Amino acid sequence: MQIIHTAHEIRAIGRQSPARTIGFVPTMGALHEGHLSLVHAAKQRCDIVVVSIFVNPTQFGPNEDFTRYPRTFERDSELLKNAAADFLFAPSTEEMYPPGASTFVTVEGLSDRLDGKSRPGHFRGVATIVSKLFHLVQPDVAFFGQKDAAQIAVIRKMVRDQNFPVEIVACPIVREPDGLAMSSRNVYLSPEERKSALALSRSLQKVEQLFQTGNRSVEELILAGKQTLTQDPGVKLDYFSIVNPDTLEDIHALDQPALVAVAAYVGKTRLIDNIVL
Ligand code: PAJ
Repeated sequence: MQIIHTAHEIRAIGRQSPARTIGFVPTMGALHEGHLSLVHAAKQRCDIVVVSIFVNPTQFGPNEDFTRYPRTFERDSELLKNAAADFLFAPSTEEMYPPGASTFVTVEGLSDRLDGKSRPGHFRGVATIVSKLFHLVQPDVAFFGQKDAAQIAVIRKMVRDQNFPVEIVACPIVREPDGLAMSSRNVYLSPEERKSALALSRSLQKVEQLFQTGNRSVEELILAGKQTLTQDPGVKLDYFSIVNPDTLEDIHALDQPALVAVAAYVGKTRLIDNIVL
């Protein structure tokens, strides 16, 4: 695996082997099995796999965890080598945002829903960095986790609206054995909070179970999900929504694919999870 730090060098990869398909997995590092599942999917589909690690400052709000976000580069590069990634692109902040950079990509509408509503500016930062990474890596296929369902909707829309020649593949959520969705932020949780964090997947299981037994009332499913979530006093609800997976708008009838998405604070840590009905 070759480690690359500059925009100039990463751009050259596509030119070197134009006949080979490039699969791309963008990440912020602190890698876990969820990230590695994307690398495995990319290996299966593509000739060359590029993974990026960049903790992107523009997608963090002023009171969020940018400075304390876990950075475990040595371990990450070891994991990626073992997963047989071909290139690791790990640029500096200055490389991605030269002084004075003032151009942003905004996917209007979508960016203000779900996480975008709770985290103003977050999806502008995500769309901007993913757009820049797509220009540099020039992938044929890019792999994202269903864990960040709203992010996938934003990226798909950006790709469509901006004519990126990139296919977006969504990969299933990888969970811990007890159901907690894997996340780089899980390391923030104390042992007590780690138990409380299970409330997210439990609330989704509750909704799934009601749906399987025939309940088709969006209002009742949301209520049951919220109740399950807030039974644990260590959990503070951010949102619990049932939306159209493409537009992220609330839906009122379960006669189409529905994204059930939850976000909650466990202590100071904001966690998200979702299922599709
Ligand atoms: P990050 O949180 O590091 O996630 C990188 C990719 O891994 C995302 O596509 C995310 O959905 C996926 N992922 C995370 N946890 C997962 C899990 N438990 N199962 C499956 N996939 C999982 O998402 C970002 O970084 C950034 O916003 C980024 C796209 C890199 C732009 O900065």
